[in-house]
Amino acid sequence: MIDIHTHILPGVDDGSPDLETSLRMARLAVEDGITSVVCTPHMAVEHPFPPGFIGERVAQLAQALQEAGIPLQVLPGAEIVLSAELPRYASMGKLPTLGEGSRHLLIELPFVGTPVFAEQVFFELQLAGYTPVIAHPERSNLGLQQPKVLEQLAERGILLQVNVTSLLGREGPHVRRLALKLIRQGTATLIASDAHNAHDRVPVLSSCRRLINRLRKPGLFEALTCDNPGCVIGRP
Ligand SMILES: [Fe+2]
Repeated sequence: MIDIHTHILPGVDDGSPDLETSLRMARLAVEDGITSVVCTPHMAVEHPFPPGFIGERVAQLAQALQEAGIPLQVLPGAEIVLSAELPRYASMGKLPTLGEGSRHLLIELPFVGTPVFAEQVFFELQLAGYTPVIAHPERSNLGLQQPKVLEQLAERGILLQVNVTSLLGREGPHVRRLALKLIRQGTATLIASDAHNAHDRVPVLSSCRRLINRLRKPGLFEALTCDNPGCVIGRP
């Protein structure tokens, strides 16, 4: 399995605070059957990381994983806050994509309110050759207030990534219901952990396997956790 949304990079955001935690998270991922994770620290274009920063940190973590004998591939990425400025930065090639050489951008919608420019930004990113991947839309104000808009975005080729914890009901019944609906109707095509630590927000995907299998769609769990994330990171 491939986890395209994690905060496993140590000491960068509100995710893993130190290398020891990152290694514990990596062990959990491997035990779960995850082979690759994308490191997606929170980022706003108004406060970008210095050039090369994420790549360097990912390389350091990869080195530490190798020394610890943990067979987990780590890839660079970011979880980018939605902003009207995104198309401008994208056209300058300044937005970190999900995995090296991919054209997919993980974008976070605000939890409260929905900017009027949201749909225009997605459209312009697509015109610039990028595919937006909306992080956990089931937790956003837009998703909960206007689920139809999510369907329209998906129809236009924007990808939706649902969190495992949302499906498991950790964010409440409304979020769970919307998460399941998005998966059931095929609007969301990706599942990720959005892991922040090694105790309650962990890099584990298999915990929702039974739930997905209950939808009685053969191969759906594998598509959500292996095939589709593989396409996102540019793996044939
Ligand atoms: Fe996240």
